[in-house]
Amino acid sequence: MRGFRAALARAASRSRAELQTAQRRHPSDLAHRLSHSGASPASLSFGIAFDIDGVILRGRSPIGGSPQAIRRLYSEDGSLKIPFLFLTNGGGVPEHKRALELSELLGVHISPSQVVHGHSPYRELVNRFEDDLIIAVGKGEPAAVMTDYGFRKVLSIDEYSSYFRDIDPLAPFKKWIVQKADHKVHPSYDVFEERVKGVFVLSDPVDWGRDLQVLCDILSTGGLPGSGRGDQPPLYFASDDLEYQAAFPSERLGMGAFRIALESIFNQVNDHQLKYISYGKPNPFVFKNAANILEKLAMSIYPCLLQTKELKDQHLSTIYMIGDNPKVDINGALKAGPPWLSVLTRTGVFRGKDNDPHFPADLVVDTVEDAINCILEKECIQ
Ligand code: G3P
Ligand code: MG
Repeated sequence: MRGFRAALARAASRSRAELQTAQRRHPSDLAHRLSHSGASPASLSFGIAFDIDGVILRGRSPIGGSPQAIRRLYSEDGSLKIPFLFLTNGGGVPEHKRALELSELLGVHISPSQVVHGHSPYRELVNRFEDDLIIAVGKGEPAAVMTDYGFRKVLSIDEYSSYFRDIDPLAPFKKWIVQKADHKVHPSYDVFEERVKGVFVLSDPVDWGRDLQVLCDILSTGGLPGSGRGDQPPLYFASDDLEYQAAFPSERLGMGAFRIALESIFNQVNDHQLKYISYGKPNPFVFKNAANILEKLAMSIYPCLLQTKELKDQHLSTIYMIGDNPKVDINGALKAGPPWLSVLTRTGVFRGKDNDPHFPADLVVDTVEDAINCILEKECIQ
């Protein structure tokens, strides 16, 4: 333990005060958890999960020395040295597309299996909805994502709304819309007859006013706007982030804020409560799924470990969650418990001097580069 503390202190001299703060708050817990995370360098039995917004990027710009930090996880020949993935509540594009975008921005090869979006668990729901008409909501290409997952009858809320004349009474005032779809009928099926069987919010909705109206229509009528009241179809949110960092100096309202708006309006115009399921961090199952992916990555990097007992019968001994949002990233790692340890950066939602009072991280550092320096020194990796 003494050696580890010394290593941490050397690697993160800027972070000494923060580490001491964490130790002051939870001395025995921190010591206990860190002493259980002592993977020998030979086994390399640790992995890393990076949050994206506020840790790796703000908007599309890399922050906190993220390209250098990520490059340290690769060998000189460009092959992956340390198992890591991106665990984000964001999304709106297929994982393979996000992997390409991150590869370009960070200058390394990222595979689609290293990208876990808030909506990635929707994949598991394909069988339930088979050929049902479902609506995909949010920025980017939400319908393309759902089609990519295997859903067969998907419409984006943009396209779906365009079939219903006057469904958005404010549309004529939306001068900022340059291209307006004006479909009269869908080429393959009748949206005026067929009920929507499921609504999936994948990413931050773009036109809140219209989306609140159209979703209230779908959810109050049993899936057919303009018809009478009916049972609410299932509603899913990819995450419940109230706020996120983005490029503006202060936080922006996220999907959780949209959920609150929809829920509060729906509950006012109906005599029953809105039902929904939210995915994303801090749900422990998201962390469990990430741990499984990291274990597979570890085995692909070090196939020889398959022959040994190192990873065959055991799980990774430590997984570091590096995030900027205490309520989401740190809370999630805390809820998930061992082998998760949390590292909080000051490049996003969290800007405090000390640790977060409600969801204290195991370590607080300025940037993701500082986080990687600490982790690699602790794990005795050059
Ligand atoms: O819209 C994205 C945001 O809600 C969170 O992204 O990467 O911080 O989990 P991230
Ligand atoms: Mg974040």
